[in-house]
Amino acid sequence: MRTAIVSAMHEELAAVLALMPDEQRQRVAGRDFWIGHLHGQQVVAVLSRIGKVAAATTATALIERFDVGSIVFTGVAGGLAPGVQVGHVVVADSFLQHDLDASPIFPRYEVPLYGTSRFATDAALTERLAAAAQLALPDAILHRGLIVSGDRFVATTAESRALQSDLPQALAVEMEGAAIAQVCHDYGVPFAAVRTISDRADDEAHVDFLRFIREVASRHSAAVVEALLRAGQPGPAA
Ligand code: ADE
Repeated sequence: MRTAIVSAMHEELAAVLALMPDEQRQRVAGRDFWIGHLHGQQVVAVLSRIGKVAAATTATALIERFDVGSIVFTGVAGGLAPGVQVGHVVVADSFLQHDLDASPIFPRYEVPLYGTSRFATDAALTERLAAAAQLALPDAILHRGLIVSGDRFVATTAESRALQSDLPQALAVEMEGAAIAQVCHDYGVPFAAVRTISDRADDEAHVDFLRFIREVASRHSAAVVEALLRAGQPGPAA
C-alpha cells in the first residue's frame, strides 16, 4: 500500500516531488497524482488545492483510487496560541472545523450526526511524524495538539483573537486538515499532519505567509517527509 503525501499548494510540495525520481502522473478529479517511490517506499503525492471541500475530494480520491495505507499532510499554518510563532512546527493530535456551526440543532463545532467536533489523528503515525520533524528540523520548536481548519484565510488580529478566545486549545489554523481527518475517519485510514507556522493569522498574515511559502515551506516539507520515509513504512503499528 502507498503512503500519500498531500499539500495544499505547489510551494509546499515542490521539493517533495523533486525527491521522487521515477514518478508517473495520473489525473483524477482534475488533480495530478504523482505515483512513485521515495526512500524505497511506495508513495503518491498530490496537491489538494485550498479549502476543506478540495481537501475532502483529494482524500477520497486517494483512498478510492490509489490504494493508500496512510495519508500525511505537510504544509503551513497560521499560529494561534501565544507561544506558537513563525518558524515553529505543529504536529496535529486532532482537528476541528472552526467555521462549522449547526447550533442550536447541534452544539457549535460538532459535526452533525458524528457526535463529535474533533477527529484525532492516528496515534502511531503521529508519533512517527513528530519524531521525523524533530530529526529533520532539530532547531525548530515543535508543538503537538489541536489544529483548527476553516474555509477562511485568517488575516486579521481581530479574527485571530476571536478564535483564540473561542478555542483556547487551538495551536494553529489552516484550511484543509479537519476535512482530511474526517474522510480518513470515515474510511478508517491513518492520518497525520505537520504544519510549519508561516504567519500569526493577524493583520500581517498575508505578507508573512507569501514570504514564508516562497522561502521555507517546501524545504521544511521535504525534510520532514524524507525523514519519515527513511525511517520506514508509515502506517498503523504492526
Ligand atoms: N495557512 C497559513 N496561514 C493561514 C492563515 N492565517 N489562515 C488560514 N490558513 C492558513
